[in-house]
Amino acid sequence: MSESSQKIKFYNGEDIPLELHKVRVVQKLHLVTIERRLEALRESGFNTFRLDTKDVFLDMLTDSGTNAMSDRQMGAMMMADDAYAGSQSFVRYQKAVEEVLGKKYLLPVHQGRAAENIISNAFVRKGSVVPMNYHFTTAMAHITQYGGRIEELLYDEAYVIRSQHPFKGNMNLEKLEACVKKHGPANIPFIRMEASTNLIGGQPFSIENLRGVRAIAEKYGIRLVLDASLLGENAWLVKQREEEFKEKSMAEIIKTMTGLADLVYFSARKLSSSRGGGICTNDEKTFKELEPLIPLFEGFLTYGGMSVREIEAIAVGLYETLDESMICQSPAFIEYLVNALDSKGIPVVTPPGVLGCHVDAMSICSHIPQKEYPAGAFAAAFYLISGVRGMERGSVSNQRDEYGNETYADMELLRLAIPRRVFTLSQIKYVEDRMTWLYDNRQLIGGLRFVYEPPVLRFFMGGLEPIDDWAEKLVEKFKQDFGDSL
Ligand code: F0G
Repeated sequence: MSESSQKIKFYNGEDIPLELHKVRVVQKLHLVTIERRLEALRESGFNTFRLDTKDVFLDMLTDSGTNAMSDRQMGAMMMADDAYAGSQSFVRYQKAVEEVLGKKYLLPVHQGRAAENIISNAFVRKGSVVPMNYHFTTAMAHITQYGGRIEELLYDEAYVIRSQHPFKGNMNLEKLEACVKKHGPANIPFIRMEASTNLIGGQPFSIENLRGVRAIAEKYGIRLVLDASLLGENAWLVKQREEEFKEKSMAEIIKTMTGLADLVYFSARKLSSSRGGGICTNDEKTFKELEPLIPLFEGFLTYGGMSVREIEAIAVGLYETLDESMICQSPAFIEYLVNALDSKGIPVVTPPGVLGCHVDAMSICSHIPQKEYPAGAFAAAFYLISGVRGMERGSVSNQRDEYGNETYADMELLRLAIPRRVFTLSQIKYVEDRMTWLYDNRQLIGGLRFVYEPPVLRFFMGGLEPIDDWAEKLVEKFKQDFGDSL
């Protein structure tokens, strides 16, 4: 049986996520003063995406491109084969995809959304409907860009913030079949399943559910596309939570999942490295349909917009996703933080998922109407009082409908990402401490309004401002309570 920190018991009975790695390269961090943090927020339009890292203490914006690299990945990067065409680095990438994901045809892309662009370009037409468990921002943007629309078909329990349901990312099979019958298979270019469903709090689906989706896809002759960006963690949670797979290896679980999909794509920034992506399949016809788009949008077929060094790191990283002691590290820290906050009555998405701890801004800031973006305000407030940068995952991250109306998000969350093997437990305890203070002072937080709103993916570069002087009041209270502490 392979090792995992969750199998190591402490004599004192405490539940501590023990690190099974040592830190060999470090980067110095700075915690700037609260006055500077307020200034930085003003300069960045109260949008944490626009902050400079020089003003950020713990960067919990995302795990994308920020997971720690292993010594073996860094070593492999030095051995890369520089070539425009026919690089042996790509051959190693293909071999890793075949061995780990079980797919023999591989198309390289520069990151996950590039795969979404290629797949949408090839299959989505005006009037297409793409059913999915839940959207991811970039997946939806590409599908709508090509004239399609999405239908989200989760079970109701997925929207319950505090829940014990082990697989909130499951597709509602009855709704899926009804959707196929309503629109007709000819109008459905593919069904999309997202591993560790990002926007509902990093919640996994079960293999039993994926098998159900596969059966419907087969019955109606529709392609099943798997977004595998967070596949490793979904597989890890399957091993923890799904009876049939308790004794199976990560390799078996991952291959079972990818084996049920016709087409698998991923952001390697999340799955296995810090850059890149890929699309893979065992179906030669599908491969041939997508192949001509790679040189058009990405680069030659053996690099796809990536450097060969990145390709080597992805290949090694793919094998490392099979290592339980590596893959469990982020979910174990997330579980620790979620349980710590939950035990203090601070509303967080449960059960603990992957990617990060998701704090429920909708209920914490219930005094802020959704049109004043409670999750955006909460993200800005948390940065202000802690220097910790999280990400708004609520209505700011939604896009307006075709008539320009706001579409309010089902959940207003602050996501505090915990990339793999990056933070220490005392840093996690600092987050817990500052979050507790902000929760106790939540009434001081006010709303935001847009002053600059880009038409597509507005959350990235949009600028907002506080509705009144709530940020100053929060600074005042912080100084009363913490004196000259940063
Ligand atoms: N699919 C999922 C499930 C993702 O989480 C992401 C990115 C993508 C696709 C797009 O990949 O960034 O390489 O183009 N998620 C990042 C995040 C951005 O912060 O959650 P990409």
